[in-house]
Amino acid sequence: MKYFIVTYGCQMNVHESEKIAGILENLGYECGETREEADIIVFNTCAIREGAEDRVFGNVGNLKKLKKKNKNLIIAVCGCMTQKSQTAQKLLNTFPFVDIVIGTFNLTKLGYYIEAVKKGRQLEVLEEGDIDESLPYKRTSGENAWINIMQGCNNFCTYCIVPYVRGREKSRKAENILKEIKEVLKEGKYKKITLLGQNVNSYGKDIEGGLSFAELLSEICKLDGDFTVSFMTSHPKDLTDELIETIAREEKLEKSIHLPAQSGNNRILKMMNRNYTREKYLDIINKIRAAIPNCRITSDFIVGFPTETEEEFLDTYSLVEEVKYDSIFAFIYSPREGTVASQMDGQIDEAIKRDRVNRLLNLEKKLQKEEA
Ligand code: SAH
Ligand code: SF4
Ligand code: F3S
Repeated sequence: MKYFIVTYGCQMNVHESEKIAGILENLGYECGETREEADIIVFNTCAIREGAEDRVFGNVGNLKKLKKKNKNLIIAVCGCMTQKSQTAQKLLNTFPFVDIVIGTFNLTKLGYYIEAVKKGRQLEVLEEGDIDESLPYKRTSGENAWINIMQGCNNFCTYCIVPYVRGREKSRKAENILKEIKEVLKEGKYKKITLLGQNVNSYGKDIEGGLSFAELLSEICKLDGDFTVSFMTSHPKDLTDELIETIAREEKLEKSIHLPAQSGNNRILKMMNRNYTREKYLDIINKIRAAIPNCRITSDFIVGFPTETEEEFLDTYSLVEEVKYDSIFAFIYSPREGTVASQMDGQIDEAIKRDRVNRLLNLEKKLQKEEA
């Protein structure tokens, strides 16, 4: 029996697909090379922008032919997109040949759902629950081992769907994280540890008497072995001096920070609920540059947030010029149902959004060339 997993979205999802693979291998499945030879196909989806969701609908739709040929093929859709009950319903209604639709919290019971489906039931499960730490991962990223340190997000940036589909911030216990990393290092083939969370800088705030993120990093760096450590993603509002000092001090920590600014304009930052200003952001950048020479700094930006004017967009443009990032991602604002920003007046015309993102990406290309 073979499985095939299709992954969309961020590193968190890439890592979660490693968990899905682990669960399926435990059940006796082997990794297949193509969809055609698979007995089970799992779509691990992303809901961050509309485009991500459209691709899933297109690709799941394409499986109808395969399902006709192979009646026993099981098709499962999971991840951030299916955690929204309306989208889950729409998937099941549009594609009656989909067998299992599960949310982000129910992954660990996949084996149980597969058994139910074999008995002839179509399943939709979107309950909140805890993540089962005892399940295995099948790591697939070469020398790099992803380590999840927390789930969810409490920030509710007004444009973002993540808090709705991933729930509230929940840090894993430091002892479990350290144990997992020790086991990974013992295998001998991993040289890079990448810690994952939507907002790693607030790690531990939900555990009384627990370690801060900077303390967790120091503990990880004390482990024996020849390896480096990196992490994503940092939220500027929670980035502490302690963290900057830790990155500067610890040899094993990569000198690299992904610090999404999203916008360079204070009115837009406020409307986004980011909880920092352009000045505060630049302050942090200066502190990082002073403490960690040659630190690689990267960022994400959103253009065309509701009501964003040309002048306000130019503030984002000038921030990118000023910081001289090592690289940036620029996204067109995509309204997500259920978020505050999607209800705001002053949604920006698609053509204007596209023009702004192109200008920002051209600037990025120009800066990259100057750097080279
Ligand atoms: N937790 C991370 C971001 C996760 S989403 C953080 O706070 O930085 C990754 C990126 O997608 C975000 O940084 C943002 O730039 C972009 N993004 C999120 N929601 C979006 C939306 N509705 N439209 C366009 N881009 C979005
Ligand atoms: Fe989304 Fe903001 Fe949370 Fe990042 S910090 S996941 S952008 S709500
Ligand atoms: Fe990641 Fe997309 Fe979910 S960016 S957390 S997979 S909505």
